[in-house]
Amino acid sequence: MKIVTTINDWQIIRQQLTGKSIGFVPTMGHLHAGHISLCERSRVENDITVVSIFVNPTQFNQGSDFQLYPRTIEQDKSLLVSHQIDYLFLPDAESMYADHYEVQVTETALSHELEGEFRPGHFTGMLTVVLKLLNLVQAARAYFGEKDYQQLLLVKKMVAALFLPTEIIACETLRADDGLALSSRNSRLNAAQRQKAAHFPHLLQSDAAIEKIIAQLQALGFKVDYIADQWQRRLGAVWLDDVRLIDNISIKKE
Ligand code: PAF
Repeated sequence: MKIVTTINDWQIIRQQLTGKSIGFVPTMGHLHAGHISLCERSRVENDITVVSIFVNPTQFNQGSDFQLYPRTIEQDKSLLVSHQIDYLFLPDAESMYADHYEVQVTETALSHELEGEFRPGHFTGMLTVVLKLLNLVQAARAYFGEKDYQQLLLVKKMVAALFLPTEIIACETLRADDGLALSSRNSRLNAAQRQKAAHFPHLLQSDAAIEKIIAQLQALGFKVDYIADQWQRRLGAVWLDDVRLIDNISIKKE
C-alpha cells in the first residue's frame, strides 16, 4: 500500500492512474469492519482502491468531540495493508483548507432537518470536504455507509447537483452481534454503556410508535435527540452520557 500525505504527490500519482477505474472510500479513521466492507466492495468493483483518512475539523460541532475523536493511524494502516488497499491518502488540514474554509458547500433544505437541527454546520463541513476529496481522487465510484443515512442522501444530492462524475454507492450498515451499528465512536463507550447501547437498535426496529420508543429509551437512561420516520427509514440519534449514537433502519413497505 502506498501512503500519500500531500495533495501534490497524490495529484502526480492520480495522473499516472489514467485509464484505471478507481474506487474511493473516504473515512475519518479508527477503521472497523464496516469500513472494511466498503473497501472489499470497492476492490471487487474497481481496478484500484483508494482510502482516505482525514479527521475533518469543519464537520465537528464541538471542539471536544473533534479532540476526542479516536485516532489510531498505525492500527488503521496495518488493517488496510492486510486488506490489500492500493493507496492510503492522508492529507493535512492546512492543505485541505488552504482557503481557511472561506469556500463552503451548503445544501439548504434537507441539511437543516434531523441531524442538521442538532448539529448546525455539520453537513456544510461534511459536504465541503467530500467535494474536495471527490475532486482530488476522481474516482469512478465512492462508497458510503447507510448508517449515516442523511449524509448519504446529501452526498448523492451534491453529486447530482454539481454534475460530479463519481457514482455514489450506498452500502448496508454492519452491526455487532447484539445489533449495535458499527461506528468509530462506539469505542468511547465503557462496558456498561456498551451493553446498554444495544437497546437503541432493538427499540428502533420494534413496531412501537415513535413516542413509545422515545419514552423507553429515556427510561433506560438515553438522552434522545430525535426518533423520526423520513425517507422510508426510521432514524434516530441518542446520547449515552457524552457519546452520541445515530442509527436508522428501513421501514419501506414491500
Ligand atoms: O462518514 C465519515 O466518516 C465522514 O463524514 C466523511 C464522509 C469521511 C467526510 O469527512
